[in-house]
Amino acid sequence: MILSEQPSEMRRDLLVLGIESSCDETAAAVVAGGRRILSNVIASQADLHRRYGGVVPEIASRMHLEAVIPVIDAALREAKRSLADIDVIAATRGPGLVGALLVGLSAAKGLALVTGKPLVGVQHIAGHVAANYLTDPDLEPPFLCLVVSGAHSHIVQVDTGDRFHILARTRDDAAGEAFDKIARAIGLGYPGGPLLDRAARDGRSDAVELPRTTLADSLDFSFSGVKTAALNQLNRLIQQAEKSGRTWQDLVPLADFAASFQQAIVDVLVDHTMQAAARTGLRRLALAGGVAANSCLRRCLQAAADQAGLILSVPPPILCTDNAAMIAAAGYRAYLGGQRDDLSLDAVPYLDLDG
Ligand code: KG4
Ligand code: ZN
Repeated sequence: MILSEQPSEMRRDLLVLGIESSCDETAAAVVAGGRRILSNVIASQADLHRRYGGVVPEIASRMHLEAVIPVIDAALREAKRSLADIDVIAATRGPGLVGALLVGLSAAKGLALVTGKPLVGVQHIAGHVAANYLTDPDLEPPFLCLVVSGAHSHIVQVDTGDRFHILARTRDDAAGEAFDKIARAIGLGYPGGPLLDRAARDGRSDAVELPRTTLADSLDFSFSGVKTAALNQLNRLIQQAEKSGRTWQDLVPLADFAASFQQAIVDVLVDHTMQAAARTGLRRLALAGGVAANSCLRRCLQAAADQAGLILSVPPPILCTDNAAMIAAAGYRAYLGGQRDDLSLDAVPYLDLDG
């Protein structure tokens, strides 16, 4: 990565083409000035992976390969722009599935090579954080962001557009992973998070007693305890029900089980985020990542922020789950910060935010 002497003032007219392919969404978007979405095209493979109960990396790579050029074409067409109008090409370089990442990154490199446009590699989590710039026209660093996805649960202090300080991370499972595992255990299928959210809608969140794990002297998360406790409760209910020829849902409605689990995860996420706000004194909060689409998390974090007099940005669900508009928004900030990448840029499956 090369850092140039680029001045860092905002450029409202700068057009960034973003490309995202880290998991099971092939996405491309055109964003103006790091804030205004001109197009945001997402080809999801969720239907394909559903039958396997999770993302199959080899299938994901192959589907990205088929989709990437049509998706980029569609993003340019919808934005009513040609490749010649684009100023910067930004693509996710990690973390993610390496075969999947390589497809989007190679497409970006190819476009940069033939057009001579600057290339910027984007860290996927920084992309999730940047979704907030697309939603909230006033948001500028410093602020705190709770980033919760299928693979990550971070509380991040955003110091500048491209400099981050991680205040908390998960010691074991990510929040999304925990949602997906319990959703599967209670028979909801894939992808579990949104299905569990929906199933919990009319449930009682105090129906099943579950622990809220906090670690001494740390804001880090640990979700393996609540996950194991939920699985134990479920097994106990199944055994109890079998004795009387019933199903476990006759003892505890599925909606109540889902709502109780969801609340246990959300309580910890909200509590740690509010503690981070108190410790840092930052008055602006943001929410990001696929789990930020969760209705209970959105509601509870908003209520806590209101009570503490803090301002919270929450992107719409479509910008919380993987998309390329967020990659373009993050690419814009990295570009203004002077980042320029060349064709030696490689995909990195385990790329840290502050590394
Ligand atoms: O950010 P994302 O789209 O991909 C990763 O970078 O991981 O996040 C996907 C995760 C999955 O675990 C999915 O189940 C979860 O976000 N998710 C949700 C909801 N929508 C997506 N979890 C809870 N409630 C939702 N409504
Ligand atoms: Zn993601």
